[in-house]
This record gives sequence, structure tokens and C-alpha cells, in this order.
Amino acid sequence: MLRLRKTNSLILLIVVLSVFLVGCTTGNTPANNVGGENSPQGENINSGEVNLFTTRHYDTDQLLFEMFEEETGIKVNVVNAGADELLERIQLEGEDTVADALITADVGRLHTAKERDLLQPVESEILFSNIPDNLRDNDDTWFGLTKRARVIVYSPDRVDPSELSTYEALTEPQWRGRIAMRTSSNIYNISLMASFIEVWGEEKSLQWAEGLKENLARDPQGNDRDQATAVASGVADVAIMNTYYIGGMLNSANEEERNVANSVEIFFPNQETDGTHINVSGIAVTKHAKNKENAIKLMEFLSGEQAQKIFAEANNEFPANPNVQWSSWLLGLGDFKEQNIDLTALGDNHSKSIMIWDRAGFK
Ligand code: FE2
Repeated sequence: MLRLRKTNSLILLIVVLSVFLVGCTTGNTPANNVGGENSPQGENINSGEVNLFTTRHYDTDQLLFEMFEEETGIKVNVVNAGADELLERIQLEGEDTVADALITADVGRLHTAKERDLLQPVESEILFSNIPDNLRDNDDTWFGLTKRARVIVYSPDRVDPSELSTYEALTEPQWRGRIAMRTSSNIYNISLMASFIEVWGEEKSLQWAEGLKENLARDPQGNDRDQATAVASGVADVAIMNTYYIGGMLNSANEEERNVANSVEIFFPNQETDGTHINVSGIAVTKHAKNKENAIKLMEFLSGEQAQKIFAEANNEFPANPNVQWSSWLLGLGDFKEQNIDLTALGDNHSKSIMIWDRAGFK
């Protein structure tokens, strides 16, 4: 595994150097090549630019955009902000928006963008073949790029994994006062409940929320990382959270975060039944995109095998393209059974989910 990681780093380094060297030798850095007239491959190459609004901020994303530019002559201009801010800006700018494409985490947010009429459908055989049916919108307005699982994280000191089985089992009396989670108004929990509505129906989902509330160690609060900290410090024994935060904390520059991640374990619930909840980060073309074709080319590039590996590894997520090999850390977690639903349902059940959390008296 270590050797694999070293090889990957080496490949990454070679790619960076090649991008740099090509820029130097031709005198055409990607930045001054917009318009494509000086493109080394002449007229066949597509050129111009694409304006990407994204919530992601990883150095490797920038590297990918440079690779894309090198391949196509299309420059990627990045606007980076939180999801609410990006959606607000696209909506306010209306027809005049500069945004061509949007990347954000969680189907719930992509659904909100679609509901607010900020997106348009995309037809691309490359995207259709790279991204599985259940990881993209039924109307083809958004496409998942990376996949995450919302799992049970537990303290191996106080919980034997044989005690764990399903999300439903967390409502049993043995878990009284032992569970940590963030607020139900957070998009991750809205989507989690939306998936349960799809798989179990509304009544069972409501009962689950009511039972879970009985067993909380404290009022819902904090972000996902704080739930891991609660388990590590003994405030709770189990927590509901996304896998990639553990991966991120294991590689953190902060020693405390590394200690937290090293003292908890991940359990994939509902393996004998309906599977673990998954969600995606995804990409879409905005309704008023001025560079639609370029945006689609960027989406196709990011869904391809070469880009997917780097894109998913930046956030310790599972690649959406099933042909791409998982990172060594993900391989270490092992294969698992996912909820067998079309993720479009997470958007469709969004409002019902908020209502059920509310009816169960959740914060
Ligand atoms: Fe997150």
C-alpha cells in the first residue's frame, strides 16, 4: 500500500513537472493561451474558458484544471465559496451569471439548485457511461463525481463491533445516552433521513428519529469532526458521520485530530439488510452558462479515470466512476453494501425529511 502511494505521488510530480515544462518550452503558458490561436495543436483543439463555482479547495483540483487546460486549451477560472453563497450569487446574477458550472457536496444541495431553476440538463454519452445511473439526476441536471458513506463511528474501548448492526438498532435501550450527531437541519442529516424515507417509508423513519432522540448523549451540535472528537473523548460511544472526515483527520497536521481519528473505528451499518447510506459531491451546468460546451468538457474530464482518482483522493472519498481504483485507505476499509436507491430520491424526499426530523422534536 505504501509503495502504491509513493508511486502515485511520483506520477503526480511527473505530471506537475510536465505541465510546467511544456509551458516553458513553447512559451505558451496555459494562462496566455486562452483563445487557442497559439495552441500547439492548432485548430483542432477546443479553446476558451469555463467559469467554475466550487465549494472544494484542494491543491490537487488546481492541478487537474491545469491538466484539463493542457489537454483542451480551455482555461478554468475558479470561484471558491460556501454552497449557500454560490447558489445565492448564481440566483442573484440571473441571466448575467458568469458561472458555467457548479460543484457542491450533497444531493440535497444539488437538488436545491435544481429546484431554484439554476441548472440545465446535460446530454453526454461520456458522462452517461462514466457515472452510474443511480449517482446522477434522473433529469440529467447533476452528476455525482465522488461518493461518501454516512456510517457509525465507535470507540473500540467501549463498544464491541459485534454490538453494532443497523441504524435502526441505535434506537434500542442499550444505547441510551451514548450517541452523538450533528443537528438535523444539516444537509447531511436531511439527506440521510430522505434516504430512509425512500427505503423504509415515512412511518418507520419517524419512529427511528424518535428512538434516536431518546438515546442521544447530548443535544445535536458541531460538525462531523466534532462527533468523532465526542467519541474519542468519552462524551459519546458512537456517532453518525461521514467516512472521509476520519481519512482527513488521520492525515491532519494537527496532532490532536490524528489522535482522535486513531482512537475510533468505522462501522458500515445495515450490511445484512438494506445497505449503508451514501451520498455524492456533484457537478452541474448552470442554466445561463455562456460556456456550456466547455463546461460539459470539464465534467467529462473530471468523470474520466485519470482525473477521478486524483479528485476523489483529495477528500478521501470514493470515486463515482466504478472503473477507478480506490485509494489505499478506502481499500483498507473494505467493500460494503450501499443503499440500493437512486440518489435523485434524496432530493425528492428533502421536504418530507425536514418535516420528520421536526416532528420527532429534533434540533
Ligand atoms: Fe463534509
